[in-house]
Amino acid sequence: MNIFITGVTGYIGSHTSVELLNSGYNIIGLDNFSNSKREVLDKIKEITGKDIKFYEGDMLDSNILDKIFTENNIDMVIDFAAFKAVGDSVQRPIDYYINNVSSVLTLLKTMKKYNVKNLIFSSSATVYGTPEYCPITEEFPIGNTTNPYGTSKLYVEGILKDLYTSDNSWNICIFRYFNPVGAHESGIIGEDPNGIPANLMPFITKVATGELPILSVFGNDYDTSDGTGIRDYIHIVDLAKAHINGIKKLASSNGGLFIYNLGTGKGYSVLEMVNAFQKVNNVKVNYKIVGRREGDIAECYADSSKANKELGWKTSKTLEDMCKDAYNYAIKNKDNFKNK
Ligand code: NAD
Ligand code: UD1
Repeated sequence: MNIFITGVTGYIGSHTSVELLNSGYNIIGLDNFSNSKREVLDKIKEITGKDIKFYEGDMLDSNILDKIFTENNIDMVIDFAAFKAVGDSVQRPIDYYINNVSSVLTLLKTMKKYNVKNLIFSSSATVYGTPEYCPITEEFPIGNTTNPYGTSKLYVEGILKDLYTSDNSWNICIFRYFNPVGAHESGIIGEDPNGIPANLMPFITKVATGELPILSVFGNDYDTSDGTGIRDYIHIVDLAKAHINGIKKLASSNGGLFIYNLGTGKGYSVLEMVNAFQKVNNVKVNYKIVGRREGDIAECYADSSKANKELGWKTSKTLEDMCKDAYNYAIKNKDNFKNK
């Protein structure tokens, strides 16, 4: 089966590519390297021994999409290409809406033109805004997003629903990811955030390697077990594997709109993350408690039982695996990390 993957060299795209190649799928990939590096393609080959048929270009460019759909017999599309930095999206809303919404319209128009109607789309738990309680099921109301990044995901979900209403032969799977962390166990691919990371796990990792002096824990006065924020961290390889289940689901369906949360169903606090990281890797992570980060919520974790039941998918990696693999990748790629 030929799967076209946009954003193929990014964090989730690269790990998903490894799992798909190892399972025998052919991959045609697109990336403009706005947030990744060409060398990731060699790394994917190093792990799998297989090549991706790669096109460098922008998903906003209908000419390159035409070329890809003309030159390849594409069965299904997985769309990862997007900008994803929440703070940056507040500063550059137009860029985010163009890159995250207009590009999807370009993609959908092309898919329609070539009669390819199978799509897996990367959405986010952020579409739930501030949930009233946890765990969050797919039936929870979505909306009240607090930044342009989140709103861009909400808009695309709306577009996909309208598209399916207009033509029930579209076969669409929306995955709402919770907090993907960690790296491939080889340490060859992982997460390489640009600049100072906004997210917890990359920040902890950089403190552990000595690249950053201290972690600021944003608030210890939440109504949680130890007062710090709780999130549903999911190992990137477990998340990547879910895309194989998604492909199988779409391949067995003649049309549908399927929405799934992808998390572990278990939340961990910031201090639990710090403690687990220190213990597993036998390394010190200096931290200090500071005030809450604006826009943060106390807790957010998934009810992923729908994906468990309908897709036959479940996570197998532990919190220890997440911490171990994140650190392993950072140590093995220390020079790369430092250049950022
Ligand atoms: P990433 O930035 O590592 O990967 C995205 C890739 O897309 C990058 O390689 C980038 O160069 C490429 N890209 C961006 N715009 C492009 C364009 N117009 N044309 C071609 N290539 C383009 O991000 P990721 O963490 O791998 O996320 C993948 C998807 O999952 C995104 O849609 C993101 O919003 C979504 N998501 C991510 C998370 C997370 O925490 N990582 C959580 C929820 C949802
Ligand atoms: C982030 C995104 C959100 C996305 C989600 C899943 C932001 C602001 N939000 O949210 O849109 O859907 O990831 O990918 O980026 N923390 C600290 N110190 C730090 C960093 C984080 O204490 O230096 C705390 C936070 O307050 C939070 C937890 O760690 O309680 C997790 O934070 P983060 O990794 O940024 O993820 P989310 O807040 O869930």
